Amino acid sequence: MRVAATLPLAAILSLLSPSFAQPDFLGCNTLRSKLSDSVFFPNSTVYDNESQNFWSNTEILSPACVFRPESAEELGMGIQLLEKKSAPFAVRGGGHMGIRGSNNIDNGVLIVMSALDTLELSEDQAILSVGPAYRWSDVYSYLEPYGLTAAGGRLGPVGVPGLLLAGGINFYGNQVGFGCDTVVNYEVVLADGSVAQANKDSHPDLFWALKGGSSNFGLVTRFDVQTIPSKKVWAGSYTVSEEYVNDFLKAIATFAADISDPKTHIVPALVPSPEVATMASAILFYDSDEEAFPEAFKPFTDIPAVASTLDFKTVSEFAAELGQMVVHGINDVFVAGTVTGTTFDELYRGISIINSTFFERLPKLYAQVPAENIFVIQLDWQPIGKLWMDASAKAGGNALGLDASKVYLAYAEVVEWTGVGYDEIVMQWVEETTYAINNATQKAGLYDAFNYIGDAAGFQSIFPGYGAENHRRLVETAQKYDPTAVFQKLMPGGFKVY
Ligand SMILES: Cc1cc2nc3c(=O)[nH]c(=O)nc-3n(C[C@H](O)[C@H](O)[C@H](O)COP(=O)(O)OP(=O)(O)OC[C@H]3O[C@@H](n4cnc5c(N)ncnc54)[C@H](O)[C@@H]3O)c2cc1C
Ligand SMILES: *[C@@H]1O[C@H](CO)[C@@H](O)[C@H](O)[C@H]1NC(C)=O
Ligand SMILES: *[C@@H]1O[C@H](CO)[C@@H](O)[C@H](O)[C@H]1NC(C)=O
Ligand SMILES: *[C@@H]1O[C@H](CO)[C@@H](O)[C@H](O)[C@H]1NC(C)=O
Ligand SMILES: *[C@@H]1O[C@H](CO)[C@@H](O)[C@H](O)[C@H]1NC(C)=O
Repeated sequence: MRVAATLPLAAILSLLSPSFAQPDFLGCNTLRSKLSDSVFFPNSTVYDNESQNFWSNTEILSPACVFRPESAEELGMGIQLLEKKSAPFAVRGGGHMGIRGSNNIDNGVLIVMSALDTLELSEDQAILSVGPAYRWSDVYSYLEPYGLTAAGGRLGPVGVPGLLLAGGINFYGNQVGFGCDTVVNYEVVLADGSVAQANKDSHPDLFWALKGGSSNFGLVTRFDVQTIPSKKVWAGSYTVSEEYVNDFLKAIATFAADISDPKTHIVPALVPSPEVATMASAILFYDSDEEAFPEAFKPFTDIPAVASTLDFKTVSEFAAELGQMVVHGINDVFVAGTVTGTTFDELYRGISIINSTFFERLPKLYAQVPAENIFVIQLDWQPIGKLWMDASAKAGGNALGLDASKVYLAYAEVVEWTGVGYDEIVMQWVEETTYAINNATQKAGLYDAFNYIGDAAGFQSIFPGYGAENHRRLVETAQKYDPTAVFQKLMPGGFKVY
């Protein structure tokens, strides 16, 4: 009893049960009292699992409780209760947005999508209904036996919801546009807790805004996406050594300046290292179960390879192969940026400026982070041109605001590191490096303000890069469907339209 006398009452009660511990300013007890089977406190199996279930260590925080709704209606009830309590919350799908606080929260409610697990094919097999519980690997392996696939993540472990709400850069982009352009209907829980269907006929403004507008309008509980016939494709990683880096960078510009074969998709990357030579490696994808080494890839495949996994395989197999690059339990950051051009010369100049600025700054990173703590550094370029944007337009358009008269090279910087104590150093380095790159490309007249959400870091802004008109439409749509700004204020994480 002496111990008890020195502890505050709340601490004693919290030892008995966290739900009696404190007034319910966090909303957890209110949720628990109404939706008890779906609310989990620390030291329960579900909480302990879900609170660690993130791509990068930098995302892990300490939510007060986990809310795991079993249906759209239950999620709607939860949102109503949280709004009444003014209780802050975060939402996590696949957990791959590597920005601290974007999909998680300290001392608030973490809503996880793991139990919203619809996965079914329409009778004519044209439409897949998929809940936000899933990773793309789940989708591809489900569709494979039907000879089908979908326009989603290239790496299997990436989550379905965040990718489709960001846009969705995918293998089939030159045929179907962004992943979001293949969505024909969203089931979405709005700020007032109601469940809406957004499609070209019902709430068409919301339908458009969800295609690239991220989490500003509601919480999506089901995506209905068009399937894509796919038996096997010819695909793999094609890796060349440092002496060919300039040929490789030229190959990117050659490919990007003339994207005329809709079956192609590439993700070319440089992989520098403090200890070994730089490697250049391209993900090459060709939508054919018959043709290998297509003409369009010659700029790459004419360079001698040190390693190649190019072969016929299913999309499911390929996404699993690439998914091996995802390593858990380490720290990661992505940063996005864009240069545009219309000719080989412009595109090559843009690539070269990004390359040189990035490599010039690497010694500064190496001086601060020991080589053994640097897991991976990567610089990649994703070309998006007229075929892609025409496919988006044909599907009804999206919010991203890309201009079909130019080719976009969306670049991404990736740094992955281990150990504690380097987070601030890496964050500052990538921020300074990004500004240095963008100042240099701006000076050369090649900069574009488009930052792809999927690859963006927390310090970057997104929606101004969609153009003033699209940004204005997104703000109006958010205000119309969420007049009390629940998703702007009570949900602090993610990129906000205002
Ligand atoms: C290794 C790796 C590979 C990648 N590959 C690709 C790629 O091939 N193509 C591409 O386009 N992008 C790619 N990305 C980027 C990816 O699209 C984003 O990281 C995306 O956010 C991942 O979705 P998620 O569900 O895993 O993310 P989460 O972190 O769970 O969610 C992202 C954001 O969306 C919100 N959110 C989650 N679920 C919902 C929902 N149901 N309703 C409303 N809001 C929600 C979250 O609150 C958060 O703000 C990749 C990222 C990584 C780390
Ligand atoms: C959870 O369990 C650990 C050890 O088992 C304990 O130290 C911690 O206080 C517990 N947390 C809560 C919130 O009960
Ligand atoms: C959580 O549970 C899932 C499904 O059982 C499992 O695959 C995953 O590894 C678990 N994650 C953690 C962090 O324990
Ligand atoms: C890219 O950077 C590397 C390393 O600094 C350099 O050797 C190479 O010449 C650069 N290439 C281009 C085209 O900028
Ligand atoms: C140029 O650099 C400055 C900081 O050095 C930064 O504030 C600015 O945003 C950069 N410009 C671009 C286009 O990134």
